[in-house]
Amino acid sequence: MGRSDSDAFVFFGATGDLAYKQIFVALQALVRRDNFDMPIIGVAGSDWTDAQLRDRAKDSLEHNGGVDKAAFKKLSSRLHYIGGDYKDPATYKRLREALGDAVRPLHYLAVPPDLFEAVARGLAESGCAKNARVVVEKPFGHDLASARDLNRTLLQFFPEPAIFRVDHYLGKEPVQNMLFFRFANTFLEPVWNRNYVSSVQITMAEKFGVNGRGKFYEEVGAIRDVVQNHMLQVTALLAMEAPSRNDTDAVRDQKAALLKAIRPLERRDVVRGQYSGYRKEEGVAKDSQVETFAAVRLHIDNWRWAGVPFYIRAGKCLPLTTTEIRVELKRPPLSVFGDPEHDLPNHIEFRLSPDVFISMGAQAKAPGEEMSGEPVNLVVRRQTSEEMTAYERLLGDAARGDQLLFARQDSVEAEWRIVDPVLKNPPPVKEYEPATWGPEKADALASSTGGWHNPTPDEGGHTAGSEKGR
Ligand code: BG6
Repeated sequence: MGRSDSDAFVFFGATGDLAYKQIFVALQALVRRDNFDMPIIGVAGSDWTDAQLRDRAKDSLEHNGGVDKAAFKKLSSRLHYIGGDYKDPATYKRLREALGDAVRPLHYLAVPPDLFEAVARGLAESGCAKNARVVVEKPFGHDLASARDLNRTLLQFFPEPAIFRVDHYLGKEPVQNMLFFRFANTFLEPVWNRNYVSSVQITMAEKFGVNGRGKFYEEVGAIRDVVQNHMLQVTALLAMEAPSRNDTDAVRDQKAALLKAIRPLERRDVVRGQYSGYRKEEGVAKDSQVETFAAVRLHIDNWRWAGVPFYIRAGKCLPLTTTEIRVELKRPPLSVFGDPEHDLPNHIEFRLSPDVFISMGAQAKAPGEEMSGEPVNLVVRRQTSEEMTAYERLLGDAARGDQLLFARQDSVEAEWRIVDPVLKNPPPVKEYEPATWGPEKADALASSTGGWHNPTPDEGGHTAGSEKGR
């Protein structure tokens, strides 16, 4: 590790869900790949021992990808646990002692946002915040005003270059690849604008419901949970201008500029849905009006995209789990080979999960005497088992002080500014049946540009066409 790299990793919320599902897995991978040779200290309220934290780590790995014996041995020897109240100065005193010689610790706040202030204050008052970095998880606020408040709070204790706001979508390999594909090739640029693109659709579908997170979900709903952050970050990468180089400011400036050009949502641009059965989930109000599905139509007010609708659809209990981006091009100006009704427009698709590919939908001649066409997909597919998880990449970057893949405050605020009006004055929530594509009303939102494209499992692999890649 380099001289400015963090030399201790502290995670608050060590006994919680996020640590169990993501952090131990990322830590084992970091130890395996980069050695990550530093004290790793878990902090939480329970009265645990080091051995209990190690058992928890092992259990987490057994359920999430497997234990790598050699890496786990190293990880386990570095793991320490500190139990204590987040509001008690004694907790931080013990932490400072446990940090020993470390001079640049990385503190990961995997705790609810209402504890951020107490933890940041405790770190600052005990000297643990000196030269330190802090990683925070979404939600960064509940609306624009609270996001600003939260930021003011964090800035009291940490300067902006030391604050790392996680949006795990930014750490995903296929999201990185989308950015690379856009700006490492010339052929997209001439068509990547209002002259050739008719619409853009981003679908984040999840087959499952709220999975025991009813209480959390009641406080957020789909717009706050994934549209305000993951979906808008992806939109920014898809639609922004080219950065002059791949550095933190250059990329984050372009993203922020794009987000600032998105018009705040009006009610007529949003459909909210709730799956039938949601109100029976644990922790959910019997008369809940919280949306488990949202479809929105965005307008980007800049020269590149004026007039091109960007549709986003995200929901639980949909027919399958997948995230895809589809950029639909306009039809050719003239139907040279026949019936324009059957000439399908070209499209470019980025499938981000669970299968990962980039595909271009085109028309080719069907074999035979007739000059008639058939749709083909040109597919680039690459997925290796060695791929980094989003959390491994993000925690490694944070430990090196690299903020490129973290959300900057002006972008976070721009995202809240977009959704704020419909959070304050939401359209009514409409019920939909599980395993459908949301309430019928959502169909009308995209009808002027040919309707929604509903993803099917592993589309790229099953369509006629040539396949490239490894
Ligand atoms: C989280 C949301 O941020 O992202 C969840 O809180 C959602 O509700 C999850 O399921 C989706 O992440 P991924 O990486 O599985 O697409």
